Amino acid sequence: MKALIAAGGHATRLRPITWTTNKHLIPLANKPMLWHVIDKIVAAGISDIIINVNPGEVESMRAAFGDGSYWHAHLTYLEQVGGAQGVAHVVANAEEHLRGHKFLFFLGDNIILGSINKFVERFQNEGLDCMLAFSRVKDPQRFGVPEFNDDGSLRRILEKPCEPPSDFAVTGIYLYNEDYFEAFHSIGPSSRGEYEISDINTWYIQSGKKVGYEEITGWWKDTGTPDALLEGNALVMDCLDRASFVVEGTVEDGAQIQGDVKVGVGTCIAADCLVRGPVTIGENCTIAGSYIGPYTSIGNNVTVKDSEVEHSVVFSGATIDTTERICSSLIGLNATLVDARRTHPKTAHRLIIGDNSFVEL
Ligand code: G1P
Repeated sequence: MKALIAAGGHATRLRPITWTTNKHLIPLANKPMLWHVIDKIVAAGISDIIINVNPGEVESMRAAFGDGSYWHAHLTYLEQVGGAQGVAHVVANAEEHLRGHKFLFFLGDNIILGSINKFVERFQNEGLDCMLAFSRVKDPQRFGVPEFNDDGSLRRILEKPCEPPSDFAVTGIYLYNEDYFEAFHSIGPSSRGEYEISDINTWYIQSGKKVGYEEITGWWKDTGTPDALLEGNALVMDCLDRASFVVEGTVEDGAQIQGDVKVGVGTCIAADCLVRGPVTIGENCTIAGSYIGPYTSIGNNVTVKDSEVEHSVVFSGATIDTTERICSSLIGLNATLVDARRTHPKTAHRLIIGDNSFVEL
């Protein structure tokens, strides 16, 4: 079997971060989002992996994941040709690589917290033509949604229906046989001008193909917002193997490290710090006089001085030196965050402070 990962798109709602970084390279627990996807695919026994990227992005992707030898896998980078024409078209773009193979199609902004091994095994062992993964959600109208017949069998998949026929989303993890290309050539663009993966899935169901499905839990989908990314970061951290929280850098005597904390090589946590996990800190960072709170991941070469940072993703090269508390934030590559100490007049606080008050600003 082969795998195709969709890693294109422009993620406009995550700008300015995504002006310079493909969203699939945004770190979750200090590894690019796609890293976690490749981990799962390889763990399911698939080592021939094609990654679909935006034109011009092959080199930045290759710099992040290499040729796959880290995973003993083979990665091929493929540029999307002809512009963005919908999820189903991403597979068509890779036809010459996939023809004659069964394949896993994985949308790279979907993170699954468990393994996909059983899902892949069922597809193979039961000789299925297509296999889908459903997850119960509160807002199915944002996804592909399955509609069932009275006997529980699948009737069709509707793309982003205003009135969802069930409370399941079709997750971005699909298995197909090579009938896919016949399906693709029989569908047309939808009213929003895209080749919809839901139309492919409906084609499989209504052509009498063997379509299996499974309900999965522990699915996270990047909804393209900073809050969702922070949630993904926290979920991935919760699922990290405890053994991966190792301290390879220096923790000075007196520094308090609580819970699961990873400290990379060359990083120094000074004596006057409190780090409360889960926290992952990359390599060659300096953390001094600071509190780093739960669900924070910090990249490489970051300085945090006299600051408090919690539930945030700090990209490599950033500097944080502020008396303001930083929470639920994304701090981009090489960004600098300092107090406006030298600007006058300062932004004023308007206060009515009662007798015997204690105020922290
Ligand atoms: C795409 C698919 C949708 C699926 C979703 C899962 O939507 O079109 O059917 O449920 O991925 O991630 P998109 O995220 O492109 O809006």
